[in-house]
Amino acid sequence: MRVSVLGLGYVGCVSAACLAELGNTVIGLDVDERKLAPLREGRSPIVEPGLAELVKRGVDEGRLSVTTDYEAAVMNTDISLVCVGTPSTESGSPNLDYTRRVCSQIAAVIARKDDFHTVVFRSTIPPGTVEDEMIPILEKESGKKEGRDFGVCFNPEFLREASAVKDFYNPPKIVIGEREEKSRAGDVLAELYETIDAPLARVAIRVSEMVKYADNCFHALKVCFANEIGNLCKAVGVPDSHAVMEVFCLDTQLTLSPYYLKPGFAFGGSCLPKDLRAVIQMSRETGVDCPVLSAAIPSNEVQIARAIDLIRDTGKRKVGVLGMSFKAETDDIRESPIIQVVSTLIGKGYELCIYARNISGPGLFGSNLGFLKHELPYAETLKAESVDEVLERSELIVVANPADEFRDVAGRMRADQVMVDLVRIIDDPSEATGEYIGISW
Ligand SMILES: NC(=O)c1ccc[n+]([C@@H]2O[C@H](COP(=O)([O-])OP(=O)(O)OC[C@H]3O[C@@H](n4cnc5c(N)ncnc54)[C@H](O)[C@@H]3O)[C@@H](O)[C@H]2O)c1
Repeated sequence: MRVSVLGLGYVGCVSAACLAELGNTVIGLDVDERKLAPLREGRSPIVEPGLAELVKRGVDEGRLSVTTDYEAAVMNTDISLVCVGTPSTESGSPNLDYTRRVCSQIAAVIARKDDFHTVVFRSTIPPGTVEDEMIPILEKESGKKEGRDFGVCFNPEFLREASAVKDFYNPPKIVIGEREEKSRAGDVLAELYETIDAPLARVAIRVSEMVKYADNCFHALKVCFANEIGNLCKAVGVPDSHAVMEVFCLDTQLTLSPYYLKPGFAFGGSCLPKDLRAVIQMSRETGVDCPVLSAAIPSNEVQIARAIDLIRDTGKRKVGVLGMSFKAETDDIRESPIIQVVSTLIGKGYELCIYARNISGPGLFGSNLGFLKHELPYAETLKAESVDEVLERSELIVVANPADEFRDVAGRMRADQVMVDLVRIIDDPSEATGEYIGISW
């Protein structure tokens, strides 16, 4: 394929050389002569293991060339990869001036180009940037229509400096953000990566833009988490924090897994809040600051407050709650976050009814019963006998755990009823026969 790479920094230079090595004809473009001069001579402008050889081979064999001329780069290629920098501004938002400028320059060429051109943004940019800012510039300044005359995708880059070449050929995933399913531009980009063996996700552009931020935030959190655990280990006399984290990493069912990584309601139950409190107390006693670990409980409270706000904002006063335990298929209601929601609503004068199979009847005893009596002394009076009764009595239905018996409730609502879904009981909001509100989606 004929590819232009616009911006030859770490991402652009590696992409250009690796794509040339795969047999593509690549034209690299940059506004900085310091990047272009070494490339013209077949030398890499950046230090990166394995890159020098690829650049030399690409240039020597005529598959990799560079220019400062947008006309030459865009007119003579089928696809342009935008890899310019998006450095932080003072506020923390990325500076989008370089991406805007590139759009204007591409648009000027597309205006005169008869063939369909695919523009792919690889720079890290906030969700909405491509659709709300970049495509309008491209359309306005070229006088052409995205999807018909040219196509646009977002394709986040996951390479790490120092292993960038290896990462390019073995990425953890390839993400193609496109405006509609199986778009023409998405197909062109998928073809470019055809020989690279990696899980491929073709998703909405905004999803692809956000994935990159989610990844990097999580990576940063992992580093801080491991450091805080290590610092605590050292302070409390655990001989080797690495031994702790090696064992921690053996767990691929819960710890290093998709588990706990779905947006939804607050955590609760008999262990997570209790053990977090114990670790935070350990940090206080030893004087070891653990800001990340300490932030988990306030963050959880934000999610509980958010659920209450969503309910309040509907304006409905008759609320039916489905589920009381912190997850389905358990009767453990200790520190179940929905109890806090229910208490607050009662305090504000809402009319409530609750259906929760596992806590109804004589089954509840011991610390569970104690917790319920302490936190919600009037629980007995709020109890509904069935899902049907909740549907009958409520204006607003709150789904608080993902029990199977709640899955069809959205499709049984009256048109004037509202559902606040805290657990993603349905994936497709159009299944709901009333108004549907998801807590984080
Ligand atoms: N560096 C990484 O490891 C990495 C990894 C993944 C994603 N990213 C993202 O990729 C993007 C690029 O990162 P980078 O580290 O390669 O940046 P960089 O600063 O190394 O390179 C950007 C290049 O763009 C050039 N440029 C600026 N304006 C231009 C224009 N109008 N036309 C052509 N070229 C222009 C600059 O001269 C520079 O060479 C950023 O959004 C970054 O967040 C970086």
